[in-house]
Amino acid sequence: MQDNTLKRIVIAIDGYSSCGKSTFAKAIAARLGYIFIDTGAMYRAVTLHALTHGAIRSGIVHEEEVVALLDSVDISFRFNPERGASDIYVNGDLVEGRIRTIEVSNCVSRVSAIPAVRTKLVAMQQEMGRRRGVVMDGRDIGTVVFPDAELKIFMTADPAVRARRRYDELTAKGQQVSYEEIERNIRDRDYQDEHRAIAPLRKAADAVVLDNSRMTVAEQMTWVMERIAALQ
Ligand code: DC
Repeated sequence: MQDNTLKRIVIAIDGYSSCGKSTFAKAIAARLGYIFIDTGAMYRAVTLHALTHGAIRSGIVHEEEVVALLDSVDISFRFNPERGASDIYVNGDLVEGRIRTIEVSNCVSRVSAIPAVRTKLVAMQQEMGRRRGVVMDGRDIGTVVFPDAELKIFMTADPAVRARRRYDELTAKGQQVSYEEIERNIRDRDYQDEHRAIAPLRKAADAVVLDNSRMTVAEQMTWVMERIAALQ
């Protein structure tokens, strides 16, 4: 339920892949009547565009070719009431389903390490949060995109727990994947996200840590609503 008496703030949620950041961010946004922005979806959308336009071949990301494509990628969001969240579009095409495949997951860390990609997407994210009232999840929201966010959360969970959750999610959608491949992908992405030269995954000094390995979404909501209340 929306509460208009509360001050509108920016909530930055960063952390490792497959920690449930988006599910959590979406639930907070619904509770507060805020906009939810999944910035990982934006990096995935650029990766999908690069794949479909041949700038990634045999798993090799050709950086200059990805950069050359950037001016022709128009990313937009449209609210989907059925999902209670916005769907992502590239040049007017709905790509919400196609950005979550293992093929995209395997290349997205390398695409997101390209400085020109980050410059473009960070500027879009800052514009989307200009009027506050947003919950944004990603890797660099509290450190780079909104260093002045009123609430910063750094999410983490045991890699095996994350792999199991992602495996269950993908197999429920009918994708043929192996648990081992998912776990490897998660560990690889953790490493790449933490070790890239530009905007690496880091906990902001003023972020609060949420380890949800053994927490339900309801418990996480109680945890965050207490923190939001304390800010008012
Ligand atoms: O949250 P996700 O797994 O959908 O994100 C996909 C990739 O995008 C992730 O491996 C790292 C990158 N990413 C990023 O570099 N910065 C962000 N703010 C969000 C995601």
